[in-house]
Amino acid sequence: PVVALVLAGGTGSRLYPASRSDRPKQFLSLVGEDSLLARTVDRARDVADEVFVSTRPAFAADVPDHAPDAEVVVEPAAKDTGPALVYATHRIRDAVGDCVVVVLPSDHRVGGAFADVMRRGARVAAETDALVTFGVEPTRPDTGYGYIEPGASRGDYAPVAAFHEKPDAETARAYVDAGHYWNAGIFAWTPDALLAAARDSPLSDLVADLAAGVDAERAFEGVPAVSVDYGVMERTANAVVVPASFEWDDLGSWDAFDRVRDGDGGGETTDDGESADDGTVSVGDVTVRTLDAADNVVAGDDVHVSLVGVSDLAVVSWDDRVLVVPKDRAQDVRTLVDELKRRG
Ligand code: GDD
Ligand code: MG
Repeated sequence: PVVALVLAGGTGSRLYPASRSDRPKQFLSLVGEDSLLARTVDRARDVADEVFVSTRPAFAADVPDHAPDAEVVVEPAAKDTGPALVYATHRIRDAVGDCVVVVLPSDHRVGGAFADVMRRGARVAAETDALVTFGVEPTRPDTGYGYIEPGASRGDYAPVAAFHEKPDAETARAYVDAGHYWNAGIFAWTPDALLAAARDSPLSDLVADLAAGVDAERAFEGVPAVSVDYGVMERTANAVVVPASFEWDDLGSWDAFDRVRDGDGGGETTDDGESADDGTVSVGDVTVRTLDAADNVVAGDDVHVSLVGVSDLAVVSWDDRVLVVPKDRAQDVRTLVDELKRRG
């Protein structure tokens, strides 16, 4: 069988102040009426026989509101996606046995041939016993993604020659020029393939403890917090890449909504992500009036916003908080949130 594992344990700090520590981005309805998590679970049902949702303890109680029929796997402590995926994959192997796990992040907007490509990836995972990644053709030297250097194509897939997580801007430019892919952040693997790769990683003790039946809380003590990309994908020699020939975007930061415009083709429509003639994009429940303003992203919960003579900004009002940031610095909101956590 094919099992979908939806990742829903991140905080999404770059979407502050819409996402807050008790209300991460996957629970928000930023595109259309349903939350990003509910939309991801819907998609998962098209490709999988069973759906599991992986999350951290703090979010566990809220997941069923967005994924009523899914099995929720709660890792004992939030240690990023590496430990979360080792733990959930181990649990799935116990519950389901032999299968292919398709890992789906809950902050994506996809369309087009998504389900077909997932089925192809699941088949490649079963046939090759490799860790399957999905490669997106880059359109800019984005520093928020992983990059995949493909080897010679073998039809549906190519071996991964090298995997580079979140390079600096200059390196990202070189990777784009060299024809590398973006890592879509979606994976397919058999449980045995992932656990074997994690045995050669900083997560080896966790794999051994879980196999030995050590209590999960204890097994998580001393485990490093590391993403699967840095912890496993950059190290393994057993990865392949399937080209992701579908519409794809990671809605990780405010500038991403610029790319979510009505009529940009592909799959999901953007009911409330409206785009005006002057390039204004509105997200959420917001009314915008502009005078000599262009190419701004405006987001809010029940708010009326006026912009005069400004361009290329993200202006966000949520609860009692306001954020204004140039779109090209939207990645820096993460640093701001770290600072707010320290200073209040
Ligand atoms: N269960 C669990 N526990 N889930 C988590 C945790 C955790 O501690 N931390 C993050 N997640 C979930 C998030 O909710 C999200 O759905 C997914 O894991 C990916 O996390 P992001 O924080 O959005 O990762 P990213 O976008 O910076 O980078 C990843 O995705 C990119 C493409 O979207 C990487 O895989 C990159 O290589 C890739 O290019
Ligand atoms: Mg992301």
